[in-house]
Amino acid sequence: MVSPVPATALTGRRGLVVGLADERSIAWGCARALHAAGAQLIGTCLNAKAAAVVRPLAEALPLEALIECNLEREGELERVFRVVAERWGRLDFAVHSVAFAPGADLTGRVVDASRAGFLRAMDVSCHSFLRVARLAEPLMADGGALVTMSYHGAHRVVQRYGLMGPVKAALEASVRYLAAELGCRGIRVHAVSPGPIATRAASGIDRFDELLERAAAEAPSRQRVTAADVGALCAFLVSDAARGLTGQVSYVDGGQHIMA
Ligand SMILES: NC(=O)c1ccc[n+]([C@@H]2O[C@H](COP(=O)([O-])OP(=O)(O)OC[C@H]3O[C@@H](n4cnc5c(N)ncnc54)[C@H](O)[C@@H]3O)[C@@H](O)[C@H]2O)c1
Repeated sequence: MVSPVPATALTGRRGLVVGLADERSIAWGCARALHAAGAQLIGTCLNAKAAAVVRPLAEALPLEALIECNLEREGELERVFRVVAERWGRLDFAVHSVAFAPGADLTGRVVDASRAGFLRAMDVSCHSFLRVARLAEPLMADGGALVTMSYHGAHRVVQRYGLMGPVKAALEASVRYLAAELGCRGIRVHAVSPGPIATRAASGIDRFDELLERAAAEAPSRQRVTAADVGALCAFLVSDAARGLTGQVSYVDGGQHIMA
């Protein structure tokens, strides 16, 4: 693959990638790009079933370690950071590429979202990023970068994106507050907002194929983006070349979001 930043840009850097499900995952596109730029990586996936799919990818790259982590389970993210601390003693960047909402709440109207579904979606898709930042902070004594994945549905009403719209809006606001709070420690915080990509999570969105068709038709580039494109942006954002950037949402959608 073509390296998004110079092949040595992340040499000696150590990073965590949270949210590997399979080779279509945006997290996997990020892992490949970060590795191509020289970074050493530890990755996480949801559970043993996911690990069976991800392990061959992890070994091929290679990842230094693949750890199972269900963010809804008390203590599992803390265990991941214990492994990072024991193995490396520090962390340069973390990529959070995780989202979940219960099916009924995702496909229904936002106005009908259950309290339990709303809280679960916020916990897994938003509060978990705060927890990643909190656990990363003591390992980033020399500064670092945190990246999470958002979507344009945070700003505009995207048909059938439903409950994830308000959840991503909260995630983007969290990015701004974390950037303000952690900037004095040299920690930069970024949201990346990709256009639609056919992944497992995306298949939970009703008529997602229509979003894919519209992306290619509406984007000035007339092309859909890929997980590799997201990875390229991510590798740039965690590199020193992006030292002047923090707290913002960077779109990687072929320009679709600028169109009326
Ligand atoms: N695919 C798209 O079109 C698109 C567009 C914009 C943003 N995003 C965002 O990109 C991120 C990655 O999604 P993706 O499209 O690569 O799909 P994906 O299914 O490959 O990744 C989603 C990941 O979230 C993980 N996850 C869900 N619940 C979890 C939990 N309780 N604990 C730990 N992990 C959990 C899944 O196991 C999976 O690894 C998400 O935040 C998504 O909202 C996706």
